Amino acid sequence: MDKVRLGIIGVGGMGSAHAKMMAEVEEVQLSAVADIDPDVAKQVGEQYGVPFFADYRQCIDSGLVDAVIVATPHPAHPEVAEYAFSKGLHVLTEKPMAINPVEADRMIEAAKRAGKVFAVMFQMRTERPYRIARKAIQDGIIGELMRTEMVAAYYRNQAYYDSAEWRATWVGEGGGVLVNQAPHALDMFCWLAGLPSKVTASTRTRLHEIEVEDEAFAVLEYANGAHGYLYTTTNEAPGTTRFEIAGDKGKVVIDNGQVTIRRVVPPIREFTFSATDMWAGPKTEPVEVDVEEMPAGHAQITRNFARAILYGEPLLSPGEEGIWCVELASGIILSSKRAKTVSLPVDRVEYDTLLKELRASSQPKRRVLGQRVSDPNIVR
Ligand SMILES: NC(=O)c1ccc[n+]([C@@H]2O[C@H](COP(=O)([O-])OP(=O)(O)OC[C@H]3O[C@@H](n4cnc5c(N)ncnc54)[C@H](O)[C@@H]3O)[C@@H](O)[C@H]2O)c1
Repeated sequence: MDKVRLGIIGVGGMGSAHAKMMAEVEEVQLSAVADIDPDVAKQVGEQYGVPFFADYRQCIDSGLVDAVIVATPHPAHPEVAEYAFSKGLHVLTEKPMAINPVEADRMIEAAKRAGKVFAVMFQMRTERPYRIARKAIQDGIIGELMRTEMVAAYYRNQAYYDSAEWRATWVGEGGGVLVNQAPHALDMFCWLAGLPSKVTASTRTRLHEIEVEDEAFAVLEYANGAHGYLYTTTNEAPGTTRFEIAGDKGKVVIDNGQVTIRRVVPPIREFTFSATDMWAGPKTEPVEVDVEEMPAGHAQITRNFARAILYGEPLLSPGEEGIWCVELASGIILSSKRAKTVSLPVDRVEYDTLLKELRASSQPKRRVLGQRVSDPNIVR
């Protein structure tokens, strides 16, 4: 096999953007598409001259594809991925991999059982400032973790939420900003600082006419006793994406894509007890960290996925790590809805019970505009 024959399941906004991006990835060949809406499947299939299906199972069973990108609304990701694995296909799923941790567990298990490649579309991991930050932390520059912060503030208008039946409903989406906009930042936060061990959180619907949260904030505790703070919303402009990871030996700050790394000399713990001048503080100095050149974006995650299948290249965003943002989002929702501190990993039965309650309370939408368009800021 010199190219991976790729099918796309769900060719709405993001799925059709993936179809367009295939041309940039020489390791793949777009070979079929599927969408539950037959008109959408036909339109995209004809546009790219590939067979199209209204049932994802037919696409997977067609013998035309070695792997699939799953770009349906998130609640359907587990079902499609598990079916694909059961038929011996590799899977690259859109984020979040699932809305319920127990389903994410099942996907990881299914991939292992099938012995197939499983990746999640976290393209932020390909971006240079974040790769530099991760390398600095992995190289031990910040030392023992002391404090973290994540602010991921986005803006969405009501027309966005009204664009499809599934959006911003417990049934159709399984959450709000935490499961749709924030997963990239949540994944990045965990990729840099690790998964917290406890969350105490609050979520609310502050601005929009939707039933899920458009704002969430949480106080975090890590296994080593470090604390953190996390805030995300779709109510703010201009947007902010900010991470601070502070340690005993240094600090990494990424502010809207600008990374700053500083080392503390000597480390804080050491200086604190060796200094004799009552107003003395440790010096800090900038640190240069370099990483190898790599293209950034969705196409690079797809390329890496294909290269993992063809040549065993290590995954940039493996399925087993895709569960982190599901764990964190679920922990925050559970903490808020049950008004208590939640330990991570989330109790599977407890979250499943909560999600069933929330889904049972879900109301059909009064307005649906019927638009399938990818965010022009992230997809060329
Ligand atoms: N990685 C990113 O940057 C990024 C950006 C946008 C969206 N996404 C993710 O992509 C997914 C899709 O989002 P979107 O904005 O493209 O939504 P969309 O509504 O524009 O498209 C979803 C498509 O899936 C189809 N579909 C629904 N159920 C299906 C099923 N069972 N089988 C086959 N097709 C089915 C719908 O008919 C629709 O055409 C979401 O999980 C979202 O979080 C990721």
